[in-house]
Amino acid sequence: MMSSNAPITVIVEPTPLEAGVRVASEIAALVRAKPTCVLGLATGGTPVECYRELVRLHREEGLDFSQVTTFNLDEYVRLAGSHPQSFRYFMQQHLFDHINIPSDATHVPSGIAEDMSLEAIRYEQDITRHGGIDLQLLGIGHNGHIAFNEPGTPRDSRTRIVSLTDATVKANSRFFESESEVPRTAISMGIGTILEAKRILMLATGEGKRDAVKCAVEGEISETCPASFLQEHHDVTFVIDAAAA
Ligand code: PGA
Repeated sequence: MMSSNAPITVIVEPTPLEAGVRVASEIAALVRAKPTCVLGLATGGTPVECYRELVRLHREEGLDFSQVTTFNLDEYVRLAGSHPQSFRYFMQQHLFDHINIPSDATHVPSGIAEDMSLEAIRYEQDITRHGGIDLQLLGIGHNGHIAFNEPGTPRDSRTRIVSLTDATVKANSRFFESESEVPRTAISMGIGTILEAKRILMLATGEGKRDAVKCAVEGEISETCPASFLQEHHDVTFVIDAAAA
């Protein structure tokens, strides 16, 4: 799994909507083929269309999530799941509240656990207990981060508490009233955790992601661009729109 024996596959769709629908169809195909699959999920502006399409497939085509388990990549520290900017809240709003997945089958790291280090260990153990992640959906930051693994993150990192860079705080401030409200720390799966997923789908759209996509797919594998470590995985597909290509 660690060998770079397969180059990253890149699929270019004309628009962000079509890219999102394409990723949703890949996820749906897995759910149909393996109803008990374990999905790794992501938050942010990018996956919204993908989740909208999954909800449509559930409602209109009966896509059945009743046996699916999910693990999200990350969560802000100190935001409860009821906070509108928490990633738990995002997932409920955009996906979980609209499909037939049992609530105890959806996992998002807790940002308000009494002992955050223990929460990180427990999260890793949960993933292992469920047999690992079959398909991990990822987004990418302008600085090449995946989840909250910012530049400088080692390849063997695991779920842990991380500090966000100023650039990430700034990028995410669009979801908050002001930049000062954006939490500066988060709990995030590590790069090592992500690379253990059996298959990885990266969704990236918009001109602003072009450089990050290029460094991830073609750049030197290095901590400078955390997404470049994806080149070491045997089954990674990037689905991007024309603007990000
Ligand atoms: P975005 O975030 O989808 O909101 O652009 C992606 C990321 O930072 O990983």
